[in-house]
Amino acid sequence: MLSNLLSSVFPQKQIIGIDIGSSSVKIACFLEEKKKLFLKEWGHIPFNFKPDTPPDERKALISREIKNFLKKRQIQFRYAATAVSGNSVIVRYVKLPKLAKKQLDLTIAVEAEPFIPFDIKDVNLTYHILSDIMEEGQPKMETVLVAAKKELVKDKLEILSEAGLEPVLIDVDSFALENIYSYVHPEAESSAVLFLNIGHRVTNLSIVFQGVTKVVRDIFIAGVTFDKAINKILKSDLAQAEALKKSKAVLLTTEEKEAAIEQYDREGIGVSKAITGVLKDLHNEVSRSIDFYLSQGVEHSISKIILTGGMANLGNITKFLSNEFKVPVEILNPFSFLNGAEKNIPKDVLPSLAVAAGLAIRKMRDWE
Ligand SMILES: Nc1ncnc2c1ncn2[C@@H]1O[C@H](COP(=O)(O)OP(=O)(O)OP(=O)(O)O)[C@@H](O)[C@H]1O
Ligand SMILES: [Mg+2]
Repeated sequence: MLSNLLSSVFPQKQIIGIDIGSSSVKIACFLEEKKKLFLKEWGHIPFNFKPDTPPDERKALISREIKNFLKKRQIQFRYAATAVSGNSVIVRYVKLPKLAKKQLDLTIAVEAEPFIPFDIKDVNLTYHILSDIMEEGQPKMETVLVAAKKELVKDKLEILSEAGLEPVLIDVDSFALENIYSYVHPEAESSAVLFLNIGHRVTNLSIVFQGVTKVVRDIFIAGVTFDKAINKILKSDLAQAEALKKSKAVLLTTEEKEAAIEQYDREGIGVSKAITGVLKDLHNEVSRSIDFYLSQGVEHSISKIILTGGMANLGNITKFLSNEFKVPVEILNPFSFLNGAEKNIPKDVLPSLAVAAGLAIRKMRDWE
């Protein structure tokens, strides 16, 4: 009763999810009514500034884009969540000596230092205790450490504040993805799932077993790597290469290859050759992470791959990865729980909204 009263006087704090990528900003926000979520708004704002735009100018332009979007769509959310990934962020699963939380809060920087490849003074550090274990007769704690360079965090916070929002949560791309996946698929998975969020500059990889993340790693093979490879083979410019990447596909079967030859589709053949090479490199890197996961003596191998990010749209990518890894590959629709309310969102935008959706479903309890 009291909580009902309180929530009507102080409406539940809703969070807008803002995923600031290297090629676009993705936005999602929900409204909750009778414990059901409704999509209030979504946004996919591609950047069109020149590659040589200085960082401060980029930040200001991104803030302005977000601000304009909120104004135009009349979104009055005040609190925002965003995420970080890439080479300024490190997620490590480590075993620390068993300590009381108060004590660990004081010593975490010292405990974490050996695992963090950056100067500990330059990072924002956070941790989460997963479980208590015994190792060689010693009580220990399985802990996840997240360290993000202060500079990167500061940039993201400033972009949001400049856009008129109050940042209340900074997540990691992979965790936001797993969050939306478990919301969309609440049924428990009995074996390990591999998540690949293939964006423009980076691919976020994570392996989750029964709801617990086991590996998080970023791979620097993503959209722009494909564009450059196409460029090299077809001698186009980067914008043309990106357009070709979107309109062509990996040629997989003999029929597909023969059809391209019969139609003198020089570009199609060149693009396929270029992207196959990059996909093979990506496959090698992902395989290394799977081997690392399996080397921990786990019982279950990867049972499926969930794809998100703009590159999930690459023609035939699911078939290619499924052939290589010999497991089913699915593209995640982060809004499938809305039962059709997402149908006005272009199909190729949906997988790139996954991180923003994962951020937007974070509740007050997650950050207070
Ligand atoms: N239909 C499509 N076919 C092929 N590639 C596509 C398609 N649509 C988008 N992409 C590619 O997806 C990439 C953008 O994906 P996404 O929006 O997930 O990246 P980002 O979040 O901006 O980047 P990052 O997370 O790496 O900083 C671009 O390289 C773009 O060319
Ligand atoms: Mg991204």
